[in-house]
Amino acid sequence: MELGNIVDINQEGNLVEFRLEQSLAYIEFITESIVRIMVKSEDNYAISLLDINDSKIPVHIELVKSEDEIVLRTSKLIIKIMSDFKVDIYDKNGLLLCKDFRGKRTGIAGLDNESKMLLKKEGQDEGSSKESYKVEVIKSMEGDEFFYGLGEKTGFLNKKGYDYEMWNTDNPTPHVESFKQLYKSIPFLITLRSNSVFGMYFNNSYKTFYDLGKEDSRYYYFAANDGNLDYYFIYGSNMKEVIKNYTYLTGRASRPPMWSLGYHQSRWGYNSKKDIYDITMKLRKLRIPCDTIHLDLAYMEGCRVFTWNKNNFSNPKEFVKHLKDKGFNIVPIIDPGVKTEVGYKIYEEGKANQYYAETVKGEIYTNEVWPGEVAYPNFIDPEVRKWWGDHHKDLLDMGIQGIWNDMNEPASFRGAIPDDIIFKSKKRPLQHKEVHNIYGHFMCKATFEGVKKYTGKRPFILTRACYSGTQKYAAVWTGDNHSLWAHLQMSIPQICNLGLSGFCFAGADVGGYGSDVTDELLIRWYQVGCFYPFFRNHNTLASISQEPWSFGETTLNIIRKYIELRYELLPYIYNHFINQEQTGIPIMQPLVLQYENDAQVKELNDEFMLGENILVAPIVEQGKRCRLVYLPEGRWIDYWTGEEILGQQFMIKDAPLEICPIYIKKGSIIPMYKAMQYTGEEDIEELILKLYCDEGELIYYQDNGIDYAYEQGEYNMYKFVVEGNYLYADLLHKGYDKVYKKLKVIYKEKTYVVDFKIEGNIVKLRK
Ligand code: GLC
Repeated sequence: MELGNIVDINQEGNLVEFRLEQSLAYIEFITESIVRIMVKSEDNYAISLLDINDSKIPVHIELVKSEDEIVLRTSKLIIKIMSDFKVDIYDKNGLLLCKDFRGKRTGIAGLDNESKMLLKKEGQDEGSSKESYKVEVIKSMEGDEFFYGLGEKTGFLNKKGYDYEMWNTDNPTPHVESFKQLYKSIPFLITLRSNSVFGMYFNNSYKTFYDLGKEDSRYYYFAANDGNLDYYFIYGSNMKEVIKNYTYLTGRASRPPMWSLGYHQSRWGYNSKKDIYDITMKLRKLRIPCDTIHLDLAYMEGCRVFTWNKNNFSNPKEFVKHLKDKGFNIVPIIDPGVKTEVGYKIYEEGKANQYYAETVKGEIYTNEVWPGEVAYPNFIDPEVRKWWGDHHKDLLDMGIQGIWNDMNEPASFRGAIPDDIIFKSKKRPLQHKEVHNIYGHFMCKATFEGVKKYTGKRPFILTRACYSGTQKYAAVWTGDNHSLWAHLQMSIPQICNLGLSGFCFAGADVGGYGSDVTDELLIRWYQVGCFYPFFRNHNTLASISQEPWSFGETTLNIIRKYIELRYELLPYIYNHFINQEQTGIPIMQPLVLQYENDAQVKELNDEFMLGENILVAPIVEQGKRCRLVYLPEGRWIDYWTGEEILGQQFMIKDAPLEICPIYIKKGSIIPMYKAMQYTGEEDIEELILKLYCDEGELIYYQDNGIDYAYEQGEYNMYKFVVEGNYLYADLLHKGYDKVYKKLKVIYKEKTYVVDFKIEGNIVKLRK
């Protein structure tokens, strides 16, 4: 992209405009730490389709012009702009953070046609050329970079040396490291260097390309063939601050309903009311805690959205109520594709109102998904979103509170949707190539708003496809994984990177969706899955059963223990979700988020943190009964044995099949509940506090876990402090009437149960 040299500059508030010989460019401060850099290349300049928070905080910018550079200085950053609009960014002390690469990319030439033909014969990858893109942001690689983020991409934690594409893709074959695309597009990259860290969010919804030093180790880049050169440079004094700033821009998940943090049981293959009753009865009989059952396609009539199969799932209202009475929430699947069938209400309504994507000739565009021929609602249009959201009313009136959105990449079984399919929009006509990656985002927005409107409660929406910012509306899962050890392993970096990319509420199908699980794999998967923020066992029709009881009693007993552990940890997990509303800090975290200066953890793929207090070092390999565990700085307490271990060292830990190694950071107070069969089983009157400290503090929130009453002050905020030989407990804010009646304090194998008073609780600990 030729820009030419700067001929003029002009500053207005937070915005500095650069007139270049061949273009216009802008540098705009959103806050002291977030800077948008863009070059106007098309008439669609600066129309961001997404609901990004670009309310600007006035920033004091000191602008100094010299012969060959312009310097913009704020209290956090120094930005040097060269005469050819190369941009170098430093921290306030002059430490170089990120520099535009000088020179041209080497590029990768594609193969000649003959070679391509040969490769094609056996179905091999033909490779592709990567010569030049219309929009390219090329950053100099200094050599000390580690790359994180980018959502759920396959492979390991650190993305250095790999290339990826952002193009939401439904691919059910086993996901491997060479996959460039998956279901989600989250163009947010974190660069961690030895002395600094920053993020870059590429604000371009077209198909985009990332190369992180694979093409040439001198640089890394992100690029696109359409849209604008438009990205946000996001600074932070540490990785947490970078995430806080990124989620300031793109939004954070608000606290989910408590039930959605419990265990979810699902299978494509629960084909009738009877199947669901059998499963739920078994869960309760075998005392396996569970809050939610997902309904896959079979509950609908021939996969027609917003219909209900009256044969296999008769009396839906009674069905939902019966399950609710037993403590189960129902989450039905809703795909975007509407069956194009004459007389089918939804289709006809959408058609009459021109709510579907159209061909250039103005006809409804169709492709094939589960129901057969389908039309694609244009979720970009707020009117379509409202129509779609309103259609949830019948389901919600039945008592349903959560919706599972799937196939919203959008998937198309009969070849790719052409680039030029039109999505009408008031702002300007949009083509599929621009809308594709954000289609799922707007579907989730429609669903979220509909559910919230009719229930007044916190919606639980689950989605497979999404874009940066969808965390405001939905939890995510990593799609159709397989029952493979490699996929159990990969789920850790995937969910950790999703977390670093703003998606706090994420999980992978426990047990694996495709292929057949073994009992050992299932056990090890539950030992990891019980810590996934979103915890669901889901399986395809074609695979063997993988419910917790599928492999007999010994396996079940181990699995039950871990599902119970999840329920015990709910207060800890929920508290984190509340704190996350202010910070965007994910709950399932790679160790590098907490210990970014520790070289041992930058590529630690098989350990993770649950919040800042709990470290999990699971077994993710068949046949393994012990493993090497790395504990970072500080002291750690083995959750199972109580043994105290000094950090910053590796150790060997025995892990027979029933043990998943877990360590608690010394200094922690872990709030817990007794394990229940489901979250609303009884009013909890007793909060358990496990003290892993001689001194420590915890701020802990409690609310009804259901709706938005907390926004009106209906919540309690407790403060627990351990100091000397005492635990002090206070209620700092009392707004929710179910204040705990008792505290059960567990400290070094001793248990103290005390009545909780509104003020001045002191528990004497025998240290
Ligand atoms: C997709 C989903 C999967 C679901 C299936 C049928 O493959 O990823 O979870 O079971 O569709 O709806």
